[in-house]
Amino acid sequence: MTIDQFNFAGKKAFVRVDFNVPLDENFNITDDTRMRAALPTLKKILADGGSIIIGSHLGRPKGATDKFSLKHILKHLSELLGVEVQFANDCMGEEAAVKAAALQPGEVLLLENLRFYAEEEGKPRGLAEDATDEEKKAAKAAVKESQKEFTKKLASYADCWVMDAFGTAHRKHASTAVIADYFKPEDRMLGLLMEKEVQAVNNVLSDIKRPFIAIMGGSKVSTKIGIIENLLGKVDKLILCGGMTYTFAKAHGGEIGDSIVEMDKLDVALDVEKKAKENGVELIMAPDAVVTNGLDFATMSLKPGAEYKVAQASAIPAGFEGVDAGPEAQKKFAAAIKGCKTILWNGPAGVFECDEFCAGSRAIGNAIAEATAEGAFSLIGGGDSVACCTKFGLTDKVSYISTGGGALLEAIEGKVLPGVAAVNE
Ligand code: 3PG
Repeated sequence: MTIDQFNFAGKKAFVRVDFNVPLDENFNITDDTRMRAALPTLKKILADGGSIIIGSHLGRPKGATDKFSLKHILKHLSELLGVEVQFANDCMGEEAAVKAAALQPGEVLLLENLRFYAEEEGKPRGLAEDATDEEKKAAKAAVKESQKEFTKKLASYADCWVMDAFGTAHRKHASTAVIADYFKPEDRMLGLLMEKEVQAVNNVLSDIKRPFIAIMGGSKVSTKIGIIENLLGKVDKLILCGGMTYTFAKAHGGEIGDSIVEMDKLDVALDVEKKAKENGVELIMAPDAVVTNGLDFATMSLKPGAEYKVAQASAIPAGFEGVDAGPEAQKKFAAAIKGCKTILWNGPAGVFECDEFCAGSRAIGNAIAEATAEGAFSLIGGGDSVACCTKFGLTDKVSYISTGGGALLEAIEGKVLPGVAAVNE
C-alpha cells in the first residue's frame, strides 16, 4: 500500500525519513537532496489535513551528542515545507509524547536523532573490549528486549507509519522495520520516495529494456562482488572501472606500479571474467590509465612537482599509480554506453574530486546523458557517482538519481530490503 491510497485527514503519521545529510563544521547543510526528496510525501500528508511526526537518524552517534543533533536541520526543514516545524529534544520522554499528542492538522514535529538510543539499531553499546561471548550475548538480548518498549513508544505517537527512508531501508532498525508490528497492515505504507526508488530498481532488475549496461567503479572489487555477480545474470555489457581495474590487471600478471590492488582478490577478478564469458556478457575494462607519482589524497590535489601521464593499465611504471581511465578507455566506455536502453552507474572511474583526474568519470556521465536523451532509462546511485553528476552538471540529464548508497547496492544485489518487507508483510 502506498500513501496515494490513504486519506490522512485528521490522522497523525509517523514518517521515517532519511535526513542523514552532510553538514559542514558550522552545521550548514552542504547537500539537502535527501530532504527535498522527502517533500512530496510530507506535503501530501499535510495537504490531506494530517499531521506528521518525523523520525530520522543523522550520522552514526553512539549516544546523544550535539554534533549529530537534528536541531541543525530544523530551520531548513521549516523553509522547505513552508511550515514552522516543532522540535522534540529527545525522541523518547515526556516532551515528545506531549508535543505529538497536541499536534493539530497541518502541524509537523521533528524528533531528535533516533540513533541517540541504542534501541534504534538494536545493537548493544559500550561493551568492554574484553567482553566474553556470554556477556555479548546477554547485552544483545537486553537491547533487543528494551527495543520493544522503545519502538512501542515511537508507534504510540501516531495513527499510521509511513516508511520513506530509502537510504536506510537496508537496516532492520526500530523505526525502519520493527515498528511495523505496532500498526495494522492498513496503517503502514511506503512513501512516495520509496515508491520511486523501488520502481527505479525494478527498471534495472526486472523490467529491462535492452541492451542493458552497468558501469561499476570504485576502488575495490571485494565491496562490489555481490552486485557484480547478480548483474552478470542480467546485463549485456559491464564496464568495470576505477581502482578495481588494477586488481584485474595484476591478476593477468600486469605491472601496476603503486596502484591500489587487492592481492587476495586476484582469483575473484579472474572468476568475474570467467562468469562474464559464461553469461555472454561483454566485459569492458580500461586499456589505459592516467597515472601520477604525487597525488595527495588528504587534499585531493597534486603535490608540488608531481607528474602525471598516460600509461597502459597493465604497464604502469614503478612509483606511479593509476588515478583515472585513460583516453582510449574513455572512448571505449562512451562507445559501449551509446545505444544502450538501460543504464546503471555506481562508482567513479577515477579520482574525480581532482580536476586533473575526472575525465574518465566525465566521459561516462556525458555518454549516459546522451543515451538518456535518446530514450534510455539511466539509474545513478552511490555518493560518488551522484557527486560526479552534480560536478558535471548532469543531474537533470539522467533518468533517476537514487538517494540510497548501501540500500541501493543491496537492492540491486537482489536482496529484499527490511524497510520494504516490513510494510508488505
Ligand atoms: C546512508 O547515508 O547511507 C544512510 O543514511 C544509512 O546510514 P548508515 O549506513 O549509517 O545506516
